[in-house]
Amino acid sequence: MKRVLLVLPLVLIGLLWAFGPAEKPASAGDEESTCVVCHEKHNPGVVAQWRASKHATSKKKTKPTCKTCHGTEHVGDDDVAKTKMPTAKTCKKCHIKQFKQFGRGKHALAELSVTAIPMFSKQPKSVQKMGCGSCHNVGKRWEDGSVGRCDACHTRHAFSAAEARRPEACETCHMGEDHSQYEMWRSSKHGVIHHLDPKSGRAPVCQDCHMQKGDHAVMTGWGFLGLRLPVPDETWQADIMTIVKAIGPWGRDEKGMEARVGAIKALKLARLDEETFQKARTKMIAACAKCHSSRFGKEHLELADEIIKETTHLMARAVRVVEKLYTDGILPLTEDGPKHPDLLLFYESPTEIEQELYKMFLFHRQKAFQGAIHANPDYMHWYGWAPMKSSFQKINKLDKELRAKKAEEKK
Ligand code: HEC
Ligand code: HEC
Ligand code: HEC
Ligand code: HEC
Ligand code: HEC
Ligand code: HEC
Ligand code: HEC
Ligand code: HEC
Repeated sequence: MKRVLLVLPLVLIGLLWAFGPAEKPASAGDEESTCVVCHEKHNPGVVAQWRASKHATSKKKTKPTCKTCHGTEHVGDDDVAKTKMPTAKTCKKCHIKQFKQFGRGKHALAELSVTAIPMFSKQPKSVQKMGCGSCHNVGKRWEDGSVGRCDACHTRHAFSAAEARRPEACETCHMGEDHSQYEMWRSSKHGVIHHLDPKSGRAPVCQDCHMQKGDHAVMTGWGFLGLRLPVPDETWQADIMTIVKAIGPWGRDEKGMEARVGAIKALKLARLDEETFQKARTKMIAACAKCHSSRFGKEHLELADEIIKETTHLMARAVRVVEKLYTDGILPLTEDGPKHPDLLLFYESPTEIEQELYKMFLFHRQKAFQGAIHANPDYMHWYGWAPMKSSFQKINKLDKELRAKKAEEKK
């Protein structure tokens, strides 16, 4: 009898559990469940990801549901075209801090910078969309005036902070010929230790150096092209000016130069004052200091600066060779074209020698200096500096050939 009395409550609890009211899906109110129920059939992956996300599981009252981000106009099978897609403004409503930080950083300029490059407009629309837009839409400018695609790192519908903290979150965009930061980092000591021992935090990932304390305003001292002004050395300064002259479609006169510097400023393509550079540098050395002495961090970055200087010098020498072909009237002057090599024509460069120059600039020099920065000796040397030297030799050979051909024609 005693045993029955003991077992009975357990049986009752069991019955209640089996036949009691079903548990509602996380955070789905009655209205919301119409979206959820139907979409569970159509796109079960979307609903499952949302259910597992903080957006559904958070205890905060302000968490978003399907309707918060997609509106209420589409309610069934026949009105799918009425669906709204969220913009950065939608996220801003609840995440103003990250939204504002993002707006101050370089990612917010990503869409603008693409359209400023003349070779962009020469590509088919489909190539523009996938071949530039898929990465540069991190800085998407929405019709409502807001800027940014937050799902570039917080992919839908998980919208996870943990995922965005992983270096792989940057990989799809920060890879390849002209910005192989992922590959460089991955095979540097930092990347190797991270992969051997990912949970220990012994080695830094991208975010530890570039998004310290979760700051969404990414921007570095040297920037994409490793060009800045002023620098402490006259030869270096002259080399930078030679390269600056060769980036951009804006003529060679004083007015053209002004327009070029204006555009570089607006897009923050380079830092144009010492203070902005030093601020970024100080912040970076502080990041190293977590695991290295400040002497060690500083010395490594100064070594990378020296390498930037050397790659800039070699590059400027190559640009001058091609520039002289224009001033000597050996390369043809077109009416609307620039009267100097234009490095930003990329693969649209009109002659073989200019094709070589663009590869030297955008592939080899980038790998040399970015590899140095990211503590990767092989990228710095064999993928970067060594092919730069080969390109320089080829440019000089082509220069001789073009001059010989011209002399022949004159005879
Ligand atoms: C009766 C079914 C049904 C209901 C209820 C429903 N939807 Fe849909 N929804 C669809 C179908 C069907 C599609 C097209 C799906 C596809 O192509 O895989 C769709 C598409 C969508 C899309 C993608 C549109 C696109 O262009 O990619 C979103 C976002 C969406 N629904 C949100 C919602 C929201 C928010 C609600 C609730 C307010 C909701 N849906 C309610 C059936 C439904
Ligand atoms: C925090 C905002 C947010 C919430 C909440 C949200 N979505 Fe979305 N959803 C997005 C974003 C961002 C996109 C991508 C929009 C774009 O492509 O411009 C998207 C896209 C979609 C798509 C098309 C996806 C694709 O890859 O083809 C569907 C379907 C969809 N959502 C359904 C839902 C449903 C159903 C819910 C509720 C369970 C929901 N969403 C909740 C932000 C949200
Ligand atoms: C209606 C308010 C609201 C909107 C709109 C909204 N969120 Fe959230 N979001 C929240 C809440 C609430 C949390 C959970 C916070 C917590 O529990 O600490 C959250 C959490 C997050 C997190 C952190 C998740 C984690 O793993 O810790 C990310 C990332 C995020 N949201 C991104 C977005 C993005 C991107 C958008 C726009 C597409 C968006 N949110 C729109 C309210 C919102
Ligand atoms: C969707 C593609 C995409 C993803 C994902 C992405 N980035 Fe970027 N990033 C870009 C683009 C494009 C630019 C250049 C912005 C411009 O055009 O002004 C950029 C610029 C930067 C810069 C500024 C460099 C400078 O000029 O000073 C840093 C730093 C950076 N990203 C770090 C990161 C980190 C860290 C991550 C991962 C947490 C990340 N990015 C994820 C596309 C992306
Ligand atoms: C370049 C990648 C990247 C982009 C783009 C990005 N984030 Fe983040 N986000 C991160 C990283 C990394 C973290 C984690 C930061 C940390 O905890 O150190 C994070 C964290 C968050 C969090 C959680 C903060 C917390 O304290 O838990 C929210 C909310 C958030 N981001 C919102 C946004 C919004 C809104 C946007 C668009 C305006 C956005 N993010 C765009 C990388 C990104
Ligand atoms: C140990 C710190 C550290 C790590 C980890 C790191 N970076 Fe960097 N990164 C730097 C430094 C230092 C610079 C140059 C800063 C300056 O210009 O003074 C830089 C520069 C950059 C730039 C600007 C262009 C360039 O390469 O010079 C981008 C973009 C960038 N890093 C992305 C990434 C990405 C993506 C990852 C992860 C795959 C990553 N970084 C990992 C320290 C780091
Ligand atoms: C795989 C992704 C990806 C593709 C595709 C891509 N870019 Fe980029 N782009 C980036 C990243 C990442 C950076 C920043 C790298 C850095 O700072 O080292 C960048 C930087 C730039 C910059 C320099 C911005 C600045 O101010 O620093 C320009 C200009 C640019 N890209 C134009 C283009 C054009 C034009 C196309 C297409 C023809 C294109 N990109 C295709 C990812 C991409
Ligand atoms: C989270 C810790 C951590 C941070 C932050 C960090 N490092 Fe490292 N770094 C390491 C570890 C661990 C090693 C491997 C040391 C060894 O080889 O014994 C390493 C190795 C290196 C190496 C390879 C050369 C050597 O002596 O082994 C260089 C160069 C380097 N770090 C530079 C930097 C710079 C510059 C920064 C800041 C921009 C930085 N690190 C930030 C942990 C870190």
